Amino acid sequence: MRKGVIVCLGRLRSTSVCGLEKVAVAFATSYPWCEYGGSIPPYSLELLEEAMECKTEVPRLEVETEDSIFEIEFGQIQIEITGRCNMKCEHCRASYQAQLDMPIDQIVKIVRFARQFSPNYKEIILSGGEPLMHRDFASVLIAVRNNGGEFITLTSNGSKLTRKHLDQVEELQFKRFVLSVSLDSLNPERHNTFRGHPGAFRSAVRALQMVAKRNSPTMVASMRSTIQASQIDSMEEMVVFAKNIGCARVSFSAIHPAGRAIERPDLWMTREQKKAFLENLYRLKGAYPDLNITTNDPLKCLLRGVHDIGTENELVFDGCGAAAITFNVNADGTMTPCALLNVPMMNVFPLSISEITDRYRDNPIVRDMLTMNLHGKCGSCNLKYQCGGCRARALVQLGDFLAEDPHCFA
Ligand SMILES: C[S@@+](CC[C@H](N)C(=O)[O-])C[C@H]1O[C@@H](n2cnc3c(N)ncnc32)[C@H](O)[C@@H]1O
Ligand code: SF4
Ligand code: SF4
Repeated sequence: MRKGVIVCLGRLRSTSVCGLEKVAVAFATSYPWCEYGGSIPPYSLELLEEAMECKTEVPRLEVETEDSIFEIEFGQIQIEITGRCNMKCEHCRASYQAQLDMPIDQIVKIVRFARQFSPNYKEIILSGGEPLMHRDFASVLIAVRNNGGEFITLTSNGSKLTRKHLDQVEELQFKRFVLSVSLDSLNPERHNTFRGHPGAFRSAVRALQMVAKRNSPTMVASMRSTIQASQIDSMEEMVVFAKNIGCARVSFSAIHPAGRAIERPDLWMTREQKKAFLENLYRLKGAYPDLNITTNDPLKCLLRGVHDIGTENELVFDGCGAAAITFNVNADGTMTPCALLNVPMMNVFPLSISEITDRYRDNPIVRDMLTMNLHGKCGSCNLKYQCGGCRARALVQLGDFLAEDPHCFA
């Protein structure tokens, strides 16, 4: 039997003319979005054939499973460059991180590994801990830039950001540098208490304003708000605030059961609240089209709308890409499928790039995530390749990362 080649592209925003993109465009044109739980009509066989035939010169990480060959092109990777932090947030997913800075040669190795297989869209997220606490942050930026880092997102609590950092970002001429600063409430006292730091609110707003005031075409001020159910009604106020201080992007997240939040189910949303959260987010996307309002929750695929069609009319896949088009590496070198899913895949520190490549190719988690070998409701869902559910919620709430997403409201 001839094996089909399935190309996994990061969010399909690549400029490549790969066949799968043609399928996606055709699909998006015919079926711009799905209703809740609505089924995705089967791809046209003709187009799928074309996609299988289509081979580009771009090197991709080939993973062969029983009946398919997957070609991975990483769309986005995350490196936790330090486990150290000056705050103590109630929900922190990174609370178990080792209190150390990742050595620069290890950061370079991870970037090089990913860039081999991500020649098109290639976002590198630098996070932690508080990434600006890395003792040699300036050298980290230079090393990342010199080794193919062009599109960077730095997630930060904002407290350590200085003009010098922004000068360096400008000097290094990144193609895009997103400063994603955490601001979880417009009530300063609430934000400070939640973050266990008296100046957290003031410094986060100051950091966002500093970035916005640069008025740089490549530097993006992005407010990142990790919220609780009681704040769903305040989301619009938060969007307006972000807009007024010059942010171009607002990214909302619910609190996931990860790290410290595992012991805090009182901070999680219920399934109904999650639906209300996502509906509100989509309403705001429509009401504030000049702002990029996003969320990392794969369940947004259930509300897919016109705003998810890319600039070139491609369908933007934004579901769970853990291990398939993205990975995370903790400060101690442990690779996990995503920063919220604490399931070790390997420790990259002692390995060469070719050894990391071989282990990635053979990793059972990678195969399960590529084939979406999911269980329960997700296993039989015809949206699973778009959505995939949240694997971190499945692990913590149901004890199996391949189980159904307990928040699914389809
Ligand atoms: C772990 S922090 C690291 C960067 C930086 N220290 C900061 O707070 O922005 C990255 C982002 O993850 C969010 N986060 C932490 N724990 C989380 C959880 N359990 N669920 C969802 N998001 C979480 C934080 O609020 C923050 O916006
Ligand atoms: S969420 Fe960020 S600022 Fe808060 S404790 Fe975790 S790493 Fe530190
Ligand atoms: S969470 Fe699972 S069942 Fe629900 S839409 Fe996503 S893949 Fe389907």
